[in-house]
Amino acid sequence: MATTEVLQHIPGLSELEEQGDLVIVGHTEAYTQDGVFSPDSLIESIKERVEDALRDGYRFLAITGELSWMVDYGDAESLIAEYEWKLNESVFNNYPISALCRYNINRFSDEMIRSIIQLHPIILWKHKIHENPYYIPPPGYKTDSLTKYQVKVCLDNIDRFTDNQSRFEAIFQSKQEEIRQLHEEMTSGIIGAFLKLLETHDPYTKDHCTHVASLAVKMAEKLKLPDEFKTRIYYAALIHDIGKALIPKETLNKPGRLTTAEYEQIKLHPIYGAQALCQVKALEEVAMAVRHHHERFDGKGYPDGLSGTEIPLMARIIALCDTYDAMTNDRPYRKAISHGEAIDEILSQAGDQFDPKLTQTFIALFSNGPAL
Ligand SMILES: [Fe+2]
Ligand SMILES: [Fe+2]
Repeated sequence: MATTEVLQHIPGLSELEEQGDLVIVGHTEAYTQDGVFSPDSLIESIKERVEDALRDGYRFLAITGELSWMVDYGDAESLIAEYEWKLNESVFNNYPISALCRYNINRFSDEMIRSIIQLHPIILWKHKIHENPYYIPPPGYKTDSLTKYQVKVCLDNIDRFTDNQSRFEAIFQSKQEEIRQLHEEMTSGIIGAFLKLLETHDPYTKDHCTHVASLAVKMAEKLKLPDEFKTRIYYAALIHDIGKALIPKETLNKPGRLTTAEYEQIKLHPIYGAQALCQVKALEEVAMAVRHHHERFDGKGYPDGLSGTEIPLMARIIALCDTYDAMTNDRPYRKAISHGEAIDEILSQAGDQFDPKLTQTFIALFSNGPAL
């Protein structure tokens, strides 16, 4: 759609016009009978053509035009501004139509250019489309109280842009939190499923695992480790013996001495557990703690014979908690020992089986008596 007959002389346009893809609005349609430019007449002409186009099946329409031929009129600039806001209000707000407005800065006053810019929510500047921060919606022009209105709109815009920014930040943060929670729920679900599997296989492990997990978290708190570490060590301790689900019950709970073959079989449980857990990317650290919870500080443990700080911190902590809980509870193959005896035994192993510094921290957990 175009507003001047000049377009008719451009090659190829008549063909488009014949096909109905282009409609040219002659300038006479933009005037009253007295020869005065009438924004309302031009808007009505455009609306009629838009309705026709929609009836013909067109779904996306664009309008462009050259209005500089009107600037000879004394009132032309204010009429053009009126035409622009009426176009916004009556046409763009109601129909699937966009406009490309061209204004020659050499032919219009600065005030005119400013008013026109203010009437357009989107501007094209240096080949990029921008949201127009100077946009003022039509009502300001309607009531002819532009200065007052401009100030109000500017203030509103500042609020709106600030709001948008904080709103986006809030949405972003809440989405991140949702994802984190979902992730945590999935992880704890997987841990719960593993634990259930082991409990079904060997009911003794249920209490053992929860005791070890509780002690391990207390150790992490005492060591002032981050919350993330506390969550991971809780998971790791809960399922540190998950690999035992692959060891026959009869072997796990055999009342007498284990044969060498049986002992070798049991020694595989940290490997089985780690192999299952490392399938879940989020549980890699947990898998490593599970793999190494039977390593010894002096390097004589299993499965890899790691020593000292080669053993992950999580595994060194779990080793202490695991041994203490195993010693202080009855098993089919031996009786429980007292808290004091267990502490003495652990102390005697500081530097051999256990990390000596962590052993001190572990003992300190019981400064007011047994922790569980
Ligand atoms: Fe174990
Ligand atoms: Fe254990």
